[in-house]
Amino acid sequence: MAAKNIDATLYDRMKEVKEFDESKMGVKGLSDSGITSIPQFFIHDPQTLSDLKPPYKHTTTTIPTIDLSHINSAAHRPKIVDQVKSAAKNFGFFQVTNHGVPVSVLGETVNAVKAFHEQPHEVKSKYYKREEGKGVMYASNNDLYRTTAASWHDSLQVWMSPERPEVEEIPEACREEVVAWDLHATKVAEDVMELLSEGLGLEGRRFKELTFSDKRALLGHCYPYCPQPDRTVGITAHTDPGIITVLLQNHVPGLQVRHGNEWLDVKPVPGGLIINVGDLLQITSNGEYTSVQHRVLANSWKEARISVVIFFNLSKWREDGYCGPLPELLSPEKPPVYRDFTAQEFLENFYGKGIDTKSLIEKITIKS
Ligand code: OGA
Ligand code: NI
Repeated sequence: MAAKNIDATLYDRMKEVKEFDESKMGVKGLSDSGITSIPQFFIHDPQTLSDLKPPYKHTTTTIPTIDLSHINSAAHRPKIVDQVKSAAKNFGFFQVTNHGVPVSVLGETVNAVKAFHEQPHEVKSKYYKREEGKGVMYASNNDLYRTTAASWHDSLQVWMSPERPEVEEIPEACREEVVAWDLHATKVAEDVMELLSEGLGLEGRRFKELTFSDKRALLGHCYPYCPQPDRTVGITAHTDPGIITVLLQNHVPGLQVRHGNEWLDVKPVPGGLIINVGDLLQITSNGEYTSVQHRVLANSWKEARISVVIFFNLSKWREDGYCGPLPELLSPEKPPVYRDFTAQEFLENFYGKGIDTKSLIEKITIKS
């Protein structure tokens, strides 16, 4: 009898999820329709909900902000390397300013992604589909069918490299800006990765040679107004799987980063870009850098929160098909903290379940 009840609940949930997905309206469509309560499949479990903290209430610590103006000055670079190293180790997240991208470009990029999401249903729904891994995909909750509770965001996703879609496949509303942003953000990522490599005592170009910037996915997220922000989340707590992530956000708050037992609000710094360490960097650095959990609260502002995220992944793995801590970082005093693993294991872990999946890192940690 009990089992039957559970089945019935699951069935209804799946039906509701599917109807929502097939409507292609996204949460932006639900929000614009003026609903005052959210569908049940968006409601998160009591534990997740009790752990929500509205932004800007009791923040004391914040993630570091690092000024990159003088990275090419021999006098300043070592200090900047130290700052980046310490931030990547202790927070896993930092903001960079004076990164070389004109402020006007940041604004244009956010506005273009916003414009995409604000298009009428007839235009936007043409792009709505679920085919991950290459090309262009617009959908609500990339992991909609893999998670236990959906979150209050829609995303446009463009796999920029190694197989870039035809430019015409990128929606016109943000086409030029997406292409330009990919170039700008990649340059920033490469600069920051050089600093991070040096922080590990490696050649600056080490991660570039490992092809960290040759596999990139760009996501333009939209977190529209949510009528019940205390019952769901904008994006579930997760760690990013790749090497690093570059994140551009508008002024609407909501991003939070785990630090010890606390959730820190990431206040948008005007002109700043957020960088965070992904699982692959924690692993390849043999635990020197930290990939931390982060989440976005459901948006209680009338205005949509927009973020544009680029994930940098390895395009080529080692000749033997494995990835793991870099050999030059290992010694008898510093034995590997993680075992090697295959690309398939990595992908299965990511696409196997929702982004709330137990991190790959926990699975490959060598227990002493
Ligand atoms: C992500 C993510 C945060 C944001 O896409 O992995 O953490 O602010 N996004 O959109
Ligand atoms: Ni993330």
